[in-house]
Amino acid sequence: MAYTFLTPKKIISGENALTDAKNELKKLGHKAFIVTDATMVKLGNVALLEDVLKQNETDYFIFDEVNYEPDDIIVAKAAQTYKNENCDHLIALGGGSPIDTAKAISLLLNDDAPLSSYMGKIIDINRPALAAIPTTAGTGSEATKFTIINDTTNKVKMLLTGPCLIPDLAIIDPLFSKTAPKSVTSHTGIDALCHAIEAYTSRKAQPLSDTFALSAIKRIFENLETCYNDGNNIEARVQMSLAALEAGIAFNNASVTIVHGMSRPMGALFHVPHGLSNAMLLKECMAFVVDGAYDRFGKIARYLSFTNIADDKMASEIFLDHLNTLLEHLHVPSMSEYGIDKNTYFENIEKMAKDAYISGSPSNTIKKVTVEDMMALYEKIYR
Ligand SMILES: [Fe+2]
Repeated sequence: MAYTFLTPKKIISGENALTDAKNELKKLGHKAFIVTDATMVKLGNVALLEDVLKQNETDYFIFDEVNYEPDDIIVAKAAQTYKNENCDHLIALGGGSPIDTAKAISLLLNDDAPLSSYMGKIIDINRPALAAIPTTAGTGSEATKFTIINDTTNKVKMLLTGPCLIPDLAIIDPLFSKTAPKSVTSHTGIDALCHAIEAYTSRKAQPLSDTFALSAIKRIFENLETCYNDGNNIEARVQMSLAALEAGIAFNNASVTIVHGMSRPMGALFHVPHGLSNAMLLKECMAFVVDGAYDRFGKIARYLSFTNIADDKMASEIFLDHLNTLLEHLHVPSMSEYGIDKNTYFENIEKMAKDAYISGSPSNTIKKVTVEDMMALYEKIYR
């Protein structure tokens, strides 16, 4: 069997990656449309990019109106501004939302068709050059062919996909993730861990996605807790920024599965940030999946040197113990602590399970997953 494997055209990573990317940024065009949010401006992260563009004598416009749940309205406003400002390329700077927004802007620059018309299709368009500079170690959007945008008319999260949405240039500079608060480090790091474990236990996994997934899982177990406890540990930040990229590349090619499938309805209904809803789901979802994938979880346990035991079932249990310990140390709030009303949550369990199933992601799981299985899991995770 043959496989296709997709990555960004060029990746510049490590300390000083932004400065080192100067020449590559210059090649993208004459006037950049910077897609970001107000926090990135306030933290001084945008100013660092501006410095590089000024040295390059590249003109730019800063669009800083992206919020954590980008929708079709903000994308349309941004695309119109891009045209009014006569920009000729896109640079996204921030977490997953600005990067997803920049990808969606490129669709509206292609033609006037609404974003919803791209749903369910493999998108293939010509777009302006796109660079992505992630500031959190998590979403992996800098390496993926996906964008998630809220459809304000139909009140659904649109998952749009196509290889042309993979950025041309990904700049992975750990300098930026130093500015992430503890909770963001925890939730985005767990999001990356979900990408990697789900990709490794996906029916669509392939040899190269396995390589990236295993490496990401190892780096995350070795560095996430350090980043969480000591945000200024630059080596741990470097390792986590690489892990998030590797995990993004893994799920770009192998897809996500049950955790992301169940996470999106929680975001849509209760506005739980993406990384946090994944974090709330991960432990119970993996406890459910494990008996369908002892060989895979066993390999993870041995790859991470948690054990050298040959018995896959016993090794899997050792991995799950380590996973649960890591999650405890990262202090993921429970749903009640986050303020989700128990009655409203339970009233919506059937809808969430059905919406998750329809999204298709749970069916990628190596173990068969039914709507009833997910209803039972949603019940279990409420604390
Ligand atoms: Fe994710």
